[in-house]
Amino acid sequence: MSNSVPNVQLFAPETLIEPYEAYQTLRDEAPVYHVPELNLHVITRYDLLRQATMDTKTYSSKYDGFLQESQRIAFAAATPEVQSELMRLTEAMIEAPPTMLTLDEPEHTQYRSLVNKLFTASQIKNAASTVQGVIDDTISNFGDATSLDYVDAFAGPVPLRIIADRLGIPQQDREFFDDAASAAASALRLTPLPGEEMVRRAQLALDLQTLCVRLIEERRIDPQDDMITILANSKLGEEDRQLTHGECISILNQFLVAGHETTASAFSWGMLLLCKNPELQDQLRENPELTKTFVEETLRMEAPVQGLPRLVTQDTELGGVALPAGSMVMLRYGAANRDGRQFAEPDTVDLHRKRAGAQLAFGSGVHFCIGAPLARQELNLGFPALLRHGKNFRLNPEKPAPAAEASFILRNLPHLHIEFDAV
Ligand code: HEM
Repeated sequence: MSNSVPNVQLFAPETLIEPYEAYQTLRDEAPVYHVPELNLHVITRYDLLRQATMDTKTYSSKYDGFLQESQRIAFAAATPEVQSELMRLTEAMIEAPPTMLTLDEPEHTQYRSLVNKLFTASQIKNAASTVQGVIDDTISNFGDATSLDYVDAFAGPVPLRIIADRLGIPQQDREFFDDAASAAASALRLTPLPGEEMVRRAQLALDLQTLCVRLIEERRIDPQDDMITILANSKLGEEDRQLTHGECISILNQFLVAGHETTASAFSWGMLLLCKNPELQDQLRENPELTKTFVEETLRMEAPVQGLPRLVTQDTELGGVALPAGSMVMLRYGAANRDGRQFAEPDTVDLHRKRAGAQLAFGSGVHFCIGAPLARQELNLGFPALLRHGKNFRLNPEKPAPAAEASFILRNLPHLHIEFDAV
């Protein structure tokens, strides 16, 4: 049996921008919802989503083909000149094999154990003062301004600088790195782009590979205290060999795609929640220990990764719906996080919510976000610093109201024009 709900236009731009009503309809009426034109089943209920993430044998992460197909469709829509330029750039790239996000056990485990070395508890703890330094420095760049585009001034630059520092990107390459990292993140956006923009991004991706190879080689000769050094010199599990350039690039690329824009997005949505619920600002300023719950609630309310696919490997059934082998499912983290069966008053930020950390914005199971401790640290240090710097954060009424970008995978705010009073 397959559920069908006639009134949900999941891919309409207005639903992508504001999906929560559609999610509620789906959770209540068709929690495993078949989108016939894409042959995709969308999972929106918390319990069913968790069930799928835990059963990695049936729900495989080898969905590279799905992403490549989306890219192929985007390329096919371009003019012949753009297509041949894209082909030239693609052929010049080093092939980066799947390493974590789109692999299953046991291969996944080998890479994951190696990359775990970059996110140990002591490394995160030791990084706290550097992270705080980046946050304070970025806020001091506001100068006397009490009105700004918070995405440009804070939410975007902070995670980018932190990941660039941790990776060990030299100062002279920073400007290029910023541009290339932002372009890399857009790979998960799956939104159509003009031809010239596709070519510009493909060129940036190629140049980023060149930079990574140079740094990997430099760190093999002259190790530093950074992530690229660890990646370049670690041995891969049982194979007991160094990573290839392609493998290193694949891992670094995942940090940029999965790690940068997502954290920027969480910073943005958190600030928007503060502007829309001004009483939270005083509560957090007076009780900074509630920040942790606020961060989890932000991630729950506005999951930066709204959903990711899985490939069904064997005929199965979920929530009473038959899923044939070879079909794709889409895990909607953003919908599960507002499931009233799991979270009371799911559309409200509750600074005293018990088990707020059970939100699924970082996924669950073996692919649980490896960068979650870093992202949480940035957010937990960032919001108190902002609340110390200003008060009465509010939307700037003279500027366009904030609106999410229409994307099926990521949920981010391109701009957030705010005002505040100096403290
Ligand atoms: C608020 C910020 C972030 C959010 C919301 C987020 C979200 C996610 C989600 C939902 C997954 C699970 C993928 C799946 O189910 O298949 C994931 C995995 C991953 N994330 Fe994050 N992420 C964030 C920050 C970061 C950071 C800062 C990094 C690295 C610097 C990072 C690196 C990764 C990697 C490498 C994976 C793949 C792990 C694996 O497959 O084993 N993420 N992330």
